[in-house]
Amino acid sequence: MERTPGRVLVIVPTYNERENLPVIARRLRAALPDVHLLIADDDSPDGTGRIADELAEQDDHVHVLHRPRKQGLGAAYIAGFRWGLDEGYDVLVEMDADGSHQPEELHKLLDAVADGADLAIGSRWVPGGKVVNWPFRRELLSRGANVYVRTMLGIPVRDATAGFRAYRASTLEKIGLDDVESQGYCFQVDLTLRTVRQGLRAAEVPITFVERTVGASKMSRDIILEAYWRVTVWGFAGLRDRFRQRR
Ligand code: GDD
Ligand code: MN
Repeated sequence: MERTPGRVLVIVPTYNERENLPVIARRLRAALPDVHLLIADDDSPDGTGRIADELAEQDDHVHVLHRPRKQGLGAAYIAGFRWGLDEGYDVLVEMDADGSHQPEELHKLLDAVADGADLAIGSRWVPGGKVVNWPFRRELLSRGANVYVRTMLGIPVRDATAGFRAYRASTLEKIGLDDVESQGYCFQVDLTLRTVRQGLRAAEVPITFVERTVGASKMSRDIILEAYWRVTVWGFAGLRDRFRQRR
């Protein structure tokens, strides 16, 4: 029997995912029919927002949040979380539109939350975790980023940048979303750090990350620079706080 930890909302941020969106929506609805989907589209020039509206018209489990312009993955998720918390969902899930995160594996994350995790992370870098079709430079970037994050922040998470996750609503309420400044992918590290610093439980579940076959990644130099810059600042701020406590 399928276990669910309450009402679940899967938030999928989209920017130019016209081909991918209908496929991922269909896969999610088939894999877990009770789960709701919120598409957070940043006015994609390729018309993804219109496709999202069509999906929502045909299916009462599909919802759309239209955002005025491209503001980054982090900002799209914060808006989606706020929507979901207002609507009273118990669990809020992050999932990419491009097929990298497999809806067929989502039950593992929900099981971890049902078993008591405050945050369940679909992890590539724990035993059993895999990546499929990732170019070597992306693997190096991800592994390097995670080593840097662990060194600077000292958090016991192997895949702190992972974007397939399930948050308990209470976790998001406790960590607070109002002062989150991260716009790009370092948003993932930001919320992981906040969760761990609150003394909440982050559990990692092995997943298979499948690189997209259609459309283009939005990863950019600016996104990488923002991540390194912020992780460095958080790391030194943490050191300073520890030093002050000791005196
Ligand atoms: N609304 C919105 N606005 N969506 C966005 C934006 C944005 O500015 N930027 C990206 N997205 C959406 C994409 O359309 C896709 O659905 C999802 O966010 C992930 O974007 P990708 O461009 O495919 O990301 P990636 O594959 O390079 O990165 C993935 O792995 C990283 C860690 O290696 C993501 O899961 C990241 O969250 C993760 O940190
Ligand atoms: Mn991707």
